[in-house]
Amino acid sequence: MAVFQSLLLLVMLSAVANFASAAGGCSSITFSSNRVYSACSDLPQLSSSLHWSYDAASGNLSLAFVAPPPNPDGWVAWAVNPTAQGMIGCQALIAFRQPDGKMGVKTYNIIGYGPVSEGPIAFQTSGLEAEYVDGAIRMYGKLKLPQGTTTVNQVWQVGATVANGVPQKHDFKPENLESKGTVDLVKEATAVSPALGMASSSTRNKNFRSPNSIMRMHMRMPKPALPQAPVTWL
Ligand SMILES: *[C@@H]1O[C@H](CO)[C@@H](O)[C@H](O)[C@H]1NC(C)=O
Repeated sequence: MAVFQSLLLLVMLSAVANFASAAGGCSSITFSSNRVYSACSDLPQLSSSLHWSYDAASGNLSLAFVAPPPNPDGWVAWAVNPTAQGMIGCQALIAFRQPDGKMGVKTYNIIGYGPVSEGPIAFQTSGLEAEYVDGAIRMYGKLKLPQGTTTVNQVWQVGATVANGVPQKHDFKPENLESKGTVDLVKEATAVSPALGMASSSTRNKNFRSPNSIMRMHMRMPKPALPQAPVTWL
């Protein structure tokens, strides 16, 4: 029994190690320009991680989001959704190589399932920057959330293509459809959506009917998950 438990522990630990190294996430990233964050969460989808420092009294959030786009000319996105879980309502930051050839970040208020258009979002932003390092885009920014905010709905995403400066639709694989959850910015804990495969086939089909949609999440949301430890992807 003890042997079995040790083996199981070993398997779980190596799974954690594999995940961490594959993600290049919380355990292994050192940021440039002396950027240091007090909290980090290896997100359960898309080999991505969120790093942040937060002052709830002011609502000042400083964050780095790191994810590998499907190819170097792709995009990565991280968003707060103040009104719902899922895509519609997202106040999104999207990083990609801009038409001038430099990595950059733009803001998008996602109001529908059509193509995204750049524009102001509900939160004051500053310090929006991005860089491409080791096959991943590192997106930096500061958001001013409403004072006292502690938990937010987050949505993250990656896509392969940018056309004429506009991020194009992402894949509809399970990891693209499940890349959302809530993050308690104060407790540094992440509650993730229920495991893969929650999207019903009918909602999947709806997704496929809108080829122009981007950052699309299935519309029938499961019940919100209770806050859970960051290891729920196990
Ligand atoms: C919050 O950010 C604003 C700029 O957006 C800054 O003026 C203010 O000093 C910050 N407050 C704290 C407590 O960090």
